[in-house]
Amino acid sequence: MEKFDVTVIGSGPGGYVAAIRCAQLGMKTAIIERYPTLGGTCLNVGCIPSKALLDSSEHFQNARLHFKEHGIDLKDLKVNLGQMISRKTKVVKENCDGISFLMKKNKITVFTGHGSFLTKNTLEITAADGKKTQLETARTIIATGSKPSTLPGITIDKKRVITSTEALNLTEVPGHLVIIGAGVIGLELGSVYARLGAKVSVVEFTDSIIGTMDKSLGRELQKVLKKEGFEFYLKHKVTGVTVKGKEVTVGAENEKGEKVEFKGDYCLVAVGRKPYTDQLGLDKAGVKMDERGRIETDGQLQTNVAGIYAIGDVVKGAMLAHKAEEEGVFVAEVMAGQKPHIDYNLIPGVVYTWPEVASVGLTEEQLKAQGRNFKTGSFPFKASGRARASMDTDGFVKVLADEKSDEILGVHIIGPRAADMIAEAVVAMEFRASAEDIARISHAHPTYTEAIKEACLDASGKRALHI
Ligand code: FAD
Ligand code: NAI
Repeated sequence: MEKFDVTVIGSGPGGYVAAIRCAQLGMKTAIIERYPTLGGTCLNVGCIPSKALLDSSEHFQNARLHFKEHGIDLKDLKVNLGQMISRKTKVVKENCDGISFLMKKNKITVFTGHGSFLTKNTLEITAADGKKTQLETARTIIATGSKPSTLPGITIDKKRVITSTEALNLTEVPGHLVIIGAGVIGLELGSVYARLGAKVSVVEFTDSIIGTMDKSLGRELQKVLKKEGFEFYLKHKVTGVTVKGKEVTVGAENEKGEKVEFKGDYCLVAVGRKPYTDQLGLDKAGVKMDERGRIETDGQLQTNVAGIYAIGDVVKGAMLAHKAEEEGVFVAEVMAGQKPHIDYNLIPGVVYTWPEVASVGLTEEQLKAQGRNFKTGSFPFKASGRARASMDTDGFVKVLADEKSDEILGVHIIGPRAADMIAEAVVAMEFRASAEDIARISHAHPTYTEAIKEACLDASGKRALHI
């Protein structure tokens, strides 16, 4: 039986990054992945394919709605969904191949098949053809990720009632896509198909969209998406979904308790994801889970069994690729006897709609709940020269800073390239910058980031210059 210092189960952004860092630190490393391609949810059916389709559909939307104003006339513009999906598939393949290359480069042994514990230090890999291999490992990192959740009364048939995975591979643009859940997946994939011409209705249980972010962001995004034709049905509790031929009926109860129905040709169920631990043999190793099916870990991301660690979507915290990656590095360095640190408050969150939404730190609602004294600065993109030039004037930057010390406590952006801009806020907050610090730093002109500087000027003494 081959022996390893460490074995990673799952090759998503948590797992493959953990494996690379372990190898860099001199450990003999193996990684087990049940699918033939590496990269996990993120590369195969998550971050990368969704962004590829968001980019393609954004080009179409711009060509349809904005090119004329830029002085570009196009005739016979139409969508070739087949080509769009094959480009996406090519992008995914290039990324997955890149991970295989990184495994080879770092001399990590890749096992293809379903991994499970036989004992604390013995793992078994079952290949698709049933062939079994065993290995011995001193330590294990569980990075098995998550799968889409559903609701009682809903059967995902993967044809008409679908999850994000199927929505990334449709063969036609839906006539009417009914989406359950106004979270990140619902709004990103809803944007793809709304831009390509589908009617999109979003049915959401709570009173806001992207409800875990600062409420001002959801309100602004809802306004913009409504202009694009999205219909929102908030405070609606979905009770079931039925399918008859090509027609899907989503049943719900509104806030008055009245029954309502939404009829469409596809229903996307986007109500969150659940940790994936099926047939992992956790009981054989004695690893505990919490009441929500997540693997329980301590401050070092170690499970209740010494030498077995868990990271990414399968443990508590935000289900984000970059959070999983940080945890992968963290665990490898803990094993090597180092003292790494993750500040979970500074893991940014991004929604890749257009305008993009990005956020880091505490929200206004959280600060109020904590009873903290804070000040707010904001700056709208309609006052930004760069945003006017590109006709991206929706949205704003909002900065929350401590009333007394001026330390930045949260930055919330909805606007063009917010996903890239949020990095400035993360760096500032990692170094515990004040709003005044950012306000005094030169920002290239014209750039969207000037809006961050202006919002900091506004927070720090109401002295924004361009409004
Ligand atoms: P995963 O990526 O889920 O990888 C786990 C891997 O483990 C899988 O490949 C699985 O096959 C494998 N596995 C499971 N059990 C076993 C076993 N027993 N044996 C062998 N292999 C096993 N996050 C972002 O930060 N940005 C985004 O833009 C973004 N977009 C997303 C879009 C969509 C549509 C979805 C669904 C998710 C998106 N996410 C995004 C979330 C992101 O994909 C996850 O947070 C991330 O992939 C979690 O990484 P992970 O390594 O924990 O697990
Ligand atoms: P989510 O948690 O973001 O949103 C789910 C939504 O469904 C919530 O608004 C919730 O209130 C609603 N909901 C729950 N039950 C409902 C019901 N019965 N009726 C109506 N609405 C109901 O989950 P989502 O969008 O499925 O995404 C899963 C995970 O994937 C997220 O945690 C996210 O972090 C990750 N992801 C990240 C992306 C990014 O970083 N850009 C993109 C896509 C996914």
